[in-house]
Amino acid sequence: MERVHSLRMMSRFLLLHCLVLISLFIVAATAHTSYITTDQDALLALKAHITHDPTNFLAKNWNTSTPVCNWTGVPCDVHNHRVTVLNISRLNLTGTIPFQLGNLSSLQSLNLSFNRLSGSIPSAIFTTYTLKYVNFHENQLTGTFPSFIFDKSSLQHLDFAHNSLSGEIPANICSNLPFLEILSLSGNMLHGRIPSTLLNCTYLQILDLSYNDFSGAIPKEIGNLTKLKGLYLGRNRLQEIPREFSNLAEMERMSLSENNLQDMIINFLQFYSSSTCFCNLYSFARSLIMLRFIVFISDRDKALCLFSLISFFNLCRLKKNVL
Ligand SMILES: *[C@@H]1O[C@H](CO)[C@@H](O)[C@H](O)[C@H]1NC(C)=O
Ligand SMILES: *[C@@H]1O[C@H](CO)[C@@H](O)[C@H](O)[C@H]1NC(C)=O
Ligand SMILES: *[C@@H]1O[C@H](CO)[C@@H](O)[C@H](O)[C@H]1NC(C)=O
Ligand SMILES: *[C@@H]1O[C@H](CO)[C@@H](O)[C@H](O)[C@H]1NC(C)=O
Ligand SMILES: *[C@@H]1O[C@H](CO)[C@@H](O)[C@H](O)[C@H]1NC(C)=O
Ligand SMILES: *[C@@H]1O[C@H](CO)[C@@H](O)[C@H](O)[C@H]1NC(C)=O
Ligand SMILES: *[C@@H]1O[C@H](CO)[C@@H](O)[C@H](O)[C@H]1NC(C)=O
Ligand SMILES: *[C@@H]1O[C@H](CO)[C@@H](O)[C@H](O)[C@H]1NC(C)=O
Repeated sequence: MERVHSLRMMSRFLLLHCLVLISLFIVAATAHTSYITTDQDALLALKAHITHDPTNFLAKNWNTSTPVCNWTGVPCDVHNHRVTVLNISRLNLTGTIPFQLGNLSSLQSLNLSFNRLSGSIPSAIFTTYTLKYVNFHENQLTGTFPSFIFDKSSLQHLDFAHNSLSGEIPANICSNLPFLEILSLSGNMLHGRIPSTLLNCTYLQILDLSYNDFSGAIPKEIGNLTKLKGLYLGRNRLQEIPREFSNLAEMERMSLSENNLQDMIINFLQFYSSSTCFCNLYSFARSLIMLRFIVFISDRDKALCLFSLISFFNLCRLKKNVL
């Protein structure tokens, strides 16, 4: 009796197991297709927001008679059939960017550069945790820097250059984008101070804030960004070169032209002349190298700097009788 009971229990248990497995399978299968329709809906939303497509790119290539993963400009992941890249640059598309792009939750690369997209940048696109590359270079986007509605993003490359963005760089930029390697905001209408919190973007290699309306002193914390290779701050209203810049060992190109230069040169020279370690050949060579990377407004200024450096160096040598 007891045996029959336990057998019955067992078969019931097995049946239940089977049911659970089957339903899991169904859930997985529908999840798969629903992801595909989610991606399709997001891209169709973008298509619907494009008001002028001079080459008929979207009309010709994006329609529901073919699967999303066959559409041009949107390669998918071969395993889970999710859209990983959205690359529709240089098509002269007119229109706006819909928030539904944030539903492309496997997107790694978003390239809408060199179009005529206007309106604001929807914050929703930054909810995608897989996103590594965003390029909106040369459009007509307006509004402020998008706010962040998540904790941390994997974003490494952010290019909003040559648009009409206004407002300030958000102070929490690096707590939300800690892995940024390239930040290009050149040619917008951004203003305010350069946030000292950029210090926390420790992977930053290229920082381009040129052709904006930034003012005040350049934060000395930039000098902590030891991976920095390119720093472009030209054509703003910035005032001081912090002495911490001499820590930037990887620096290959630095442009500070067309700022409040007079102050800058004086500052720069004051630092080197007051520096106690200036009177050795090594730091002299280093400062010459620094000078080479600074693109001043004119060769005359460069010559002035060089002349002053050499004078300071000679003065030191005389004073300390070194070398
Ligand atoms: C797309 O995202 C919006 C919010 O960003 C959300 O309300 C909507 O449910 C999403 N759609 C799908 C199909 O996931
Ligand atoms: C739909 O797109 C395919 C290419 O993906 C194209 O060959 C076909 O002509 C398009 N259909 C229409 C009605 O535009
Ligand atoms: C989609 O692309 C795959 C692989 O490139 C191809 O085998 C398939 O025939 C295409 N489907 C359609 C409907 O064009
Ligand atoms: C994106 O499109 C541009 C221009 O068509 C092309 O040069 C680039 O290689 C494309 N990138 C990817 C990842 O497909
Ligand atoms: C984005 O588009 C631009 C312009 O076509 C191209 O130069 C660049 O390589 C593209 N980037 C990626 C990652 O595809
Ligand atoms: C985009 O517009 C520019 C300037 O009007 C033109 O030179 C270029 O050929 C256009 N490109 C496309 C893909 O229509
Ligand atoms: C930088 O990061 C550290 C550690 O994550 C954090 O404690 C600090 O508040 C951050 N500083 C700024 C200025 O965001
Ligand atoms: C930044 O660099 C200075 C030296 O220039 C150093 O004293 C300071 O501890 C650094 N700060 C961080 C957070 O690494």
